Amino acid sequence: MLFRHASKIVMIAILSSALLIALLPARESDALRATHLDRTKVAGGCAVCHKGHGKRATVMLAMPKDDLCLSCHGQSGQDRTDIYSVIMKSSSHPIMRTSQNHVPGERLSDNSAAGQRHASCFDCHNAHKSENGNALKGMQGYSGRGMVIKRARTEYEVCYRCHADEGNPAQEEANVALDFAPSNASFHPVEKFGKNSHVPSLKKGYSRSSLITCSDCHGNDDASGPKGPHGSIYEPILKYQYIRTAGPEGLRAYELCYSCHNRSSILDDESFKYHKIHVVYNQVSCAQCHDAHGSRSNLSLIKFDETVVFPNNNGELNYLPMVQGKPRCYLSCHVRGRSYEHKLDKFLNYSINGRRTQK
Ligand code: HEC
Ligand code: HEC
Ligand code: HEC
Ligand code: HEC
Ligand code: HEC
Ligand code: HEC
Ligand code: HEC
Repeated sequence: MLFRHASKIVMIAILSSALLIALLPARESDALRATHLDRTKVAGGCAVCHKGHGKRATVMLAMPKDDLCLSCHGQSGQDRTDIYSVIMKSSSHPIMRTSQNHVPGERLSDNSAAGQRHASCFDCHNAHKSENGNALKGMQGYSGRGMVIKRARTEYEVCYRCHADEGNPAQEEANVALDFAPSNASFHPVEKFGKNSHVPSLKKGYSRSSLITCSDCHGNDDASGPKGPHGSIYEPILKYQYIRTAGPEGLRAYELCYSCHNRSSILDDESFKYHKIHVVYNQVSCAQCHDAHGSRSNLSLIKFDETVVFPNNNGELNYLPMVQGKPRCYLSCHVRGRSYEHKLDKFLNYSINGRRTQK
């Protein structure tokens, strides 16, 4: 009953906005720059997507939810971008499985634990507003810390609608907004410029005043395919390979990091004086020391991998920056069948497995 009433209102709205748009002179209408309302791109106009009575629980859409989008953005989409093939990759947003849980006009971040966690095309795109080069235009955002933002200004605000402190949390209860909080000791510069002025490894085009986006790292592994964090062969939806367990160093093994950080700078120990000995000789992965998002308590994105790093036999597990490039770690690291005790020996010299290190 309520629903039938609501759909009448929507129908009136559809008809009246169609009229309004028709009456507006071409250049003055913002709507006409939107791809889907541009008759040269989508010839059929509103009727391509909205039909008569429409599918139940939709705003009179011609097809159920994402099927509508995939009717053009699928494999047979002619000259339109094929998103279907991307969401079929091994790591992807679970659109086919969960998009039916999207409710028009819903409030995200969802603070109800009973909410159905989902991702649909409409959760990241506004079909009436998106433009070439501005795919998220017109979307609502979330600050990650309590505030709903009517029109997101940045990509991460759209992501935080579902990857922050919602009541129906992500797998492993990941609150990504905590990782990037500007109050952290260190973070990749997604929300705010980074805090470190000494990042000698940055490639051309990046500097300490760069901001990067979630989709600089999370996206399609196929660089010539559609952009955006729809799917990838690299989990979790990474644009490039990133091996997170111990193994041989190589351009491909840590391709994600090397897309912005110079491999030779890292391996020549321009910052951390012991990068090479760890990464090349002992085959420790970047991920066993660094968190790709940020670190609440340590500088330099240091967050040790708890599956290989434990307290040393003095019970310590600390990271102390000390002198630039020569920090001290008090811990026990277990890699490739050996354990490495990092601690002060009885003469109070810093040592690893009893051997003093330089300085
Ligand atoms: C590419 C497909 C597409 C086209 C073309 C399209 N719409 Fe929509 N429209 C949608 C989708 C999808 C929704 C629902 C969004 C949701 O569920 O969050 C929607 C929702 C609506 C709503 C409900 C309120 C709202 O804004 O969410 C109205 C009214 C509407 N459309 C009017 C129109 C009119 C008028 C036109 C033509 C000028 C048009 N639409 C063209 C896909 C389209
Ligand atoms: C009638 C065909 C058609 C339908 C249905 C359709 N699209 Fe599109 N879409 C296009 C065309 C044409 C383009 C421009 C060329 C391209 O990028 O594929 C486009 C582009 C886009 C873009 C890129 C940014 C932009 O606006 O140019 C996004 C995002 C997008 N569509 C999302 C959606 C979503 C979400 C739906 C479902 C609500 C949808 N589309 C349904 C035809 C369609
Ligand atoms: C409407 C909700 C929603 C929005 C908005 C959203 N996501 Fe997701 N995302 C999900 C769901 C649901 C999953 C499946 C795993 C889960 O439940 O966390 C997921 C999974 C992911 C994963 C894979 C995680 C894993 O453990 O495999 C990444 C990476 C990701 N999203 C990044 C993003 C980025 C980047 C954005 C912004 C451009 C974004 N998401 C926006 C709902 C959303
Ligand atoms: C899209 C580009 C990009 C990618 C990909 C990237 N970084 Fe960064 N990284 C930056 C920028 C820009 C800074 C500089 C921030 C600053 O000035 O504090 C930075 C800074 C850092 C810092 C220093 C942070 C601090 O506060 O001291 C570390 C450590 C780091 N990155 C490690 C990594 C690792 C490990 C990877 C791979 C998982 C990686 N980065 C991938 C762009 C990137
Ligand atoms: C054994 C732990 C460890 C491993 C493994 C490691 N790092 Fe680091 N990294 C550090 C420490 C400690 C610092 C900070 C040193 C300082 O500033 O005193 C650092 C600093 C950095 C910086 C910031 C300064 C710069 O060089 O621009 C980047 C970027 C970085 N590491 C990237 C990487 C990448 C990429 C990998 C993998 C190929 C990696 N690290 C592997 C411990 C590690
Ligand atoms: C510098 C690259 C980089 C950036 C920028 C980045 N991520 Fe990630 N993200 C990763 C990597 C690598 C992993 C896998 C981490 C792991 O398993 O240790 C990951 C993991 C995730 C996960 C899985 C759950 C978790 O926390 O491990 C989600 C969800 C996610 N990222 C969302 C986001 C969102 C949302 C943004 C932007 C606000 C973002 N990421 C920015 C590299 C990045
Ligand atoms: C988790 C959020 C999210 C979901 C869900 C999502 N998209 Fe996207 N999509 C993005 C982002 C972010 C971009 C823009 C990436 C960029 O420009 O760097 C994008 C870009 C696009 C583009 C333009 C690609 C290009 O190469 O220019 C199209 C078309 C598109 N999306 C359609 C869809 C369709 C259809 C669906 C549902 C099947 C969908 N998207 C679901 C986040 C999402």
